[in-house]
Amino acid sequence: MRIGLLGAGRIGRIHGGNVAAHSRATLTAVADADGAAAESLAKATNAKVGTIDSILGAKDIDAVVICTPTDMHSDLIEKSVRAGKAVFCEKPVDLSSARIRACLDVVKASNGKLMIGFNRRFDPSFASVRARIAAGEVGKVELVTILSRDPSPPPPSYVARSGGLFRDMMIHDFDMARFLLGEEPVEVHAVGSCLVDKGIGEAGDVDTAAVLLKTATGKIAQISNSRRATYGYDQRIEVHGSKGLLQAGNVHETTVVFAGAKGISKGYASDPALPFFLERYAAAYRAELDAFITSVLDGAPISPSGEDGLKAQLLADAATQASQTGQPVRV
Ligand SMILES: NC(=O)c1ccc[n+]([C@@H]2O[C@H](COP(=O)([O-])OP(=O)(O)OC[C@H]3O[C@@H](n4cnc5c(N)ncnc54)[C@H](O)[C@@H]3O)[C@@H](O)[C@H]2O)c1
Repeated sequence: MRIGLLGAGRIGRIHGGNVAAHSRATLTAVADADGAAAESLAKATNAKVGTIDSILGAKDIDAVVICTPTDMHSDLIEKSVRAGKAVFCEKPVDLSSARIRACLDVVKASNGKLMIGFNRRFDPSFASVRARIAAGEVGKVELVTILSRDPSPPPPSYVARSGGLFRDMMIHDFDMARFLLGEEPVEVHAVGSCLVDKGIGEAGDVDTAAVLLKTATGKIAQISNSRRATYGYDQRIEVHGSKGLLQAGNVHETTVVFAGAKGISKGYASDPALPFFLERYAAAYRAELDAFITSVLDGAPISPSGEDGLKAQLLADAATQASQTGQPVRV
């Protein structure tokens, strides 16, 4: 599969490298408004530098990977499917669920192929939890707990354009909750506070939040988010069911554990959790691109789909409203 990459920033460089290393794909061209960013990735991956228009118009490109800022995603998805390209697009599809619906209509009308970058589904541990739920190991799922905390807050200038913590950060956890519950949440409770950075509050957002989701049959998911974790990138899940519990913990820099008997060294200590998403989810980013390439080439269903992007967004909208009004929201 011949692939063009749109946006060679933080996540674009990861996806570009993974495409170039894939045995069934070639990274044909890279486009970025910042010429140096495009040049540097193209050089590292043996690709050409192009523009968005040249990539979308190229007959020798079958698919695009969209890694531009969020406010360009829905327009680029539409242009790409109209140009006959299969599309992998980073999350979120758009900050407006009305805009997402309109975009998905265009994808459908063009008979387009679209995958959304909910990478955590492809984390080896989280994917294993999902597979073991499906195999019936914990019986009927009753409670899902998701702990997701960034090491440090982004600058308030980023926060002001981000759509807010629920749409920008917790969107991954809404997708993970749906993935693990196996049912759609229908009720959303949310609270948020500004405890980490006053500037985030001044930008109109929260940096600490908790959400409860309930499905029609009564299954519950609880999500805990913070823009700060002093001990690394904190990413843990727990699934409690009628027959037992599945837990997936943090990934640490090494597997070495220290045990001591005195002072602050008393007890057990491991190395810090991996610092942030590029390190923690490196394997997941490889696996999601492999799933995209394999599904398109083999004609298999694409997951997570645009519809998954919309459903996570509707939960983010509901949580934003619930936290602002103090009232639960029906979805
Ligand atoms: N799934 C994940 O774990 C994950 C992680 C990080 C970012 N993301 C998403 O990926 C997207 C990009 O985030 P990032 O952190 O890589 O941002 P970034 O700012 O590092 O990269 C964006 C790139 O797009 C380029 N760009 C901007 N406008 C352009 C234009 N008009 N034409 C061509 N190129 C243009 C910029 O020059 C930059 O190189 C965001 O939507 C973000 O939400 C997802």
